[in-house]
Amino acid sequence: MTDLSTTYLGLRLKNPLVASASPLSKKVERVKRMEEAGIAAVVMYSLFEEQIIHESLELDHYLTRGTDSYAEAMSYLPDSGTYTLLPEKYLSKVTELKKAVNIPVIGSLNGVSRGGWVRYAHRIQEAGADALELNLYYIPTDPAITAQELENTQVDLVADIKSSIKIPLAVKLSPFYTSLPQFAHRLVEAGADGLVLFNRFYQPDFDLEELNIAHTLELSTSSDLRLPLRWISILHGNLNVDFALTSGIHTATDVLKAMMSGANVTMMASELLHSGPDRIPSILSELQTWMEVHQYTSIVQMQGSMSQKSVAEPAAFERANYMKVLSSFRDLP
Ligand SMILES: Cc1cc2nc3c(=O)[nH]c(=O)nc-3n(C[C@H](O)[C@H](O)[C@H](O)COP(=O)(O)O)c2cc1C
Repeated sequence: MTDLSTTYLGLRLKNPLVASASPLSKKVERVKRMEEAGIAAVVMYSLFEEQIIHESLELDHYLTRGTDSYAEAMSYLPDSGTYTLLPEKYLSKVTELKKAVNIPVIGSLNGVSRGGWVRYAHRIQEAGADALELNLYYIPTDPAITAQELENTQVDLVADIKSSIKIPLAVKLSPFYTSLPQFAHRLVEAGADGLVLFNRFYQPDFDLEELNIAHTLELSTSSDLRLPLRWISILHGNLNVDFALTSGIHTATDVLKAMMSGANVTMMASELLHSGPDRIPSILSELQTWMEVHQYTSIVQMQGSMSQKSVAEPAAFERANYMKVLSSFRDLP
């Protein structure tokens, strides 16, 4: 029998499939169905900084840059009745989910600035969450903000949150840092127990008929996996931290690649939103079959086996590979 178990943030999980932060966790019934189908843990949808402190001056400083007014920035916030729940309701949902299921429940905070809102990290812990994920989603638009300034704020935020909780902390990142290895290193020093790579950035589109911005959310495909795969491969073995791979996990093959890059777990949103919890047992069974055929006895055995430190061709992850890939393209005759 192959052993699919793994560990993430000190939690022992029966397999590497985790439901990513999304509306998947909004309904207790749905989380129960995912648990029955075999999911190993669930990350809750995020509680946003903006929902906690609307009038925070520090937040205002960030949000209004690049827009005409604070009011305009606030108008982009999701309607609290549809997308989100108010903070108190969020905390009740953590407690409700914890009572309803036996799998670990990871709370999620989404924010960028330091301030009073971070007390919610502690409150999420008190509500029963097994761990906390902090999503650092931020789009810099002001040319006066330096990368250093931005990164310092985010590192300080991680340290603030870490010092206010006892449960493990994971940080969900975007791929857009100038020197990701150095920034990742700083986050680990500030107390991150896990890194979740990567946030998917939802790009606004243009509606040419209406001449306005179209807000459409497209689900991922397996090709989105390449970016986190590369970076977990590069970072694995260089940092004392767990990795969760998010973006583009749709099949057992995707999960296997993620494990070999060095991820402890894979997180899925698009696939489960599109196909429902019934996808979980089929991915688990394909995973098991592949491992049996290829004579792997455990997931742990393959973790990091294709990371930069382990492969015969480490340059494949770097600049050297760029020329090789370009020259391998077969042009039209
Ligand atoms: C409808 C939807 C809502 C999401 N809400 C959140 C959220 O509240 N917090 C968060 O950190 N990520 C959120 N995400 C991002 C997912 O957790 C995940 O990182 C991203 O979709 C990439 O994974 P995927 O390729 O499996 O979809 C959301 C994604 C979708 C599609």
